[in-house]
Amino acid sequence: MKPETVLVTGGAGFIGSHTCVELLEAGNDVVVIDDYSNSHPSALDRVREITGKSFAVYEVDLRDRAGLSAVFEAHPIDSVIHFAAKKAVGESTQIPLEYFDINIGGTTNLIRTMHQHEVTRLVFSSSCSIYGDSSAAPLSEADPANPTNPYALSKWMCEQVLSQACVYIPELSVIALRYFNPIGAHPTGRLGEDPLGVPNNVMPYLSQIAVGRLTELSVFGDDYPTPDGTAIRDYIHVVDVADAHRVALEHLDDRDGFRVFNLGTGSGVSVLELVAAFSKACGKEIPHRIAGRRLGDVASLIADAANIDREWGWRTRRDLADMCRDAWNFQRQNPEGYPV
Ligand code: UD1
Repeated sequence: MKPETVLVTGGAGFIGSHTCVELLEAGNDVVVIDDYSNSHPSALDRVREITGKSFAVYEVDLRDRAGLSAVFEAHPIDSVIHFAAKKAVGESTQIPLEYFDINIGGTTNLIRTMHQHEVTRLVFSSSCSIYGDSSAAPLSEADPANPTNPYALSKWMCEQVLSQACVYIPELSVIALRYFNPIGAHPTGRLGEDPLGVPNNVMPYLSQIAVGRLTELSVFGDDYPTPDGTAIRDYIHVVDVADAHRVALEHLDDRDGFRVFNLGTGSGVSVLELVAAFSKACGKEIPHRIAGRRLGDVASLIADAANIDREWGWRTRRDLADMCRDAWNFQRQNPEGYPV
């Protein structure tokens, strides 16, 4: 495939930074936009270090029309991968309007600016959370959306906006990737997940216990209708997620219009199974105790990952042991996260 210039919004974030590595290693040029609201500029230094390549970076809020337009004027952008968004489910119930403004407003301004500059190719970062409280496992792209919190609704609304944009602007080609639970880190240990503040998500929480920054995991509920009673998720290695974006770019020209694909492994792992796998990877028992269910959690979310394989011949290549080994490797090498 011929190299392109790819604008990556949220390029300093967890999935964005790993995707920049894959894109650069495949010979593409990258332009990054990030406002660093939940990321670190030093992640981009690490991307340069891993790839030996340089790229342009802009500190821009996606809702800033003039600022965004200036980036499109400065570079011959061929395609866009749009990660930049707020993503904490609990927080979204506290500040829903911020979520709508940043996630939906940012996306509509992005697609509008793309259109003004005749850029027609977009890969959008969506989420399995749009399926809501579905016990139908595994979940296929054809299952109905039922978002149960403002974060999930914002992702579903973005999909709707992009899908409608494709109806009325026929030259647009948009692929939405619905991630299940991305975890892990780059195998070099130089890039990983480093949330600001106390982690909401289970994997950075486990890693921070292992380096002594936190003491004990609260397992949120052991009374779910699952074999060990704890909730089941479809964890996927972040490098597999990043690789899927590189491949999605290659398929944007297959046809115009809007398409969605699940991004998961197709297998479920319970919280206790994850704790055991991570304990094995880091060589220490992770202290944990059973706590009450977390508001808004669902029993099980597993991807039907057949579609992306059928259409593109793409499937995940890394397993749970790889995810735990790499997450631990990053945390061990960077006990306090990225340098500030
Ligand atoms: C959620 C969202 C997902 C979003 C992701 C990133 C849903 C269904 N999913 O994933 O779309 O992209 O956050 O913010 O809303 N757990 C514990 N103890 C902890 C933390 C988590 O037991 O301290 C459990 C949770 O109950 C859950 C599992 O670990 O069963 C995974 O939790 P988490 O990593 O927060 O991800 P999700 O909530 O699945």
